[in-house]
Amino acid sequence: MSGDWVRVAAPATTSNIGPGFDTFGLAMSEPCDIIEGRKIDSGFEITEVSGPGSENIPTDPKINSVSIAAERVLKRCDAEFGIELKIKKGIRPCSGMGSSGASAAGGAFLANILCGEKLGPVDMILCAAHAEDVISGGLHADNVSPCILGGFTLIRSYEPFDVIRIEPPANLGMVVALPDIMVATSDARKVLPREVSVRDLVFHVGNASTLVYGMMTGDLSTIGRSVKDAIFEPAREKLVPFLKEAEKTAMSNGALASFLGGSGPCIMSFYDTDVGFGDVIAEKVKEVYTQNNIGCDTWITKPGVGCRRI
Ligand code: HSE
Repeated sequence: MSGDWVRVAAPATTSNIGPGFDTFGLAMSEPCDIIEGRKIDSGFEITEVSGPGSENIPTDPKINSVSIAAERVLKRCDAEFGIELKIKKGIRPCSGMGSSGASAAGGAFLANILCGEKLGPVDMILCAAHAEDVISGGLHADNVSPCILGGFTLIRSYEPFDVIRIEPPANLGMVVALPDIMVATSDARKVLPREVSVRDLVFHVGNASTLVYGMMTGDLSTIGRSVKDAIFEPAREKLVPFLKEAEKTAMSNGALASFLGGSGPCIMSFYDTDVGFGDVIAEKVKEVYTQNNIGCDTWITKPGVGCRRI
């Protein structure tokens, strides 16, 4: 048995966003992974993987984010079929742009369509987060939540799982600069401190609160000054050459905030689309890397919707 192909787009996402380690996430309107699947009698078969970094994507369904998440959905739905998958990466792995999260969320979303959309968004997020746990060495749903729900998402609690979606301001622009450096989330999680000080905790709670206020009220200036991280980004700085120089360059060329995207190495910058400068920020941050003989891709993007059928 083989059914009709179903095709979904799963967007890149940025997570942490300064003070919201493992809790804040934001979907981007581009780039996206494209995942296609169709029902087969049983099991999982990954018959095609293409796009940037696809040479590093395993085709063994046991260790592939798409199939791990999709399998979880089939189990939850008591489905009695398997899925053949084709994966077209638009987001390269080890980028800090939610590559494994897009694969996981896309896999869960696609499998749910094949199951007759039995699961709601939160269950899809949990299936995708399971894949993130297996692949990246730590349960975190801050990429898969915005990837499913779109917009800006806040995870209040993991147990029980409780996530809230907020529509980000329409004039929030995003610039992504991705240097030719690979940082695996599993490695970036190993360098994190096990304990934090009360001082840093207070700093993070304050900035996280005002960042959410800014997202809810469209106050870009408050968002800009709230994207601060005293704990996680400093611990990871050593994994990303020229990170501080890139951030300073973005800030001096019109960015409202510039920060390590997820576990890195991408450098994310926010800017006001009513004011502009997205192209200047992209060009100048890219230059920081190219002048140091490191290639760098850039995207000028904005917040976007979650997984969708195409
Ligand atoms: N919150 C996760 C981390 C995101 O920073 O490890 C990984 O992309």
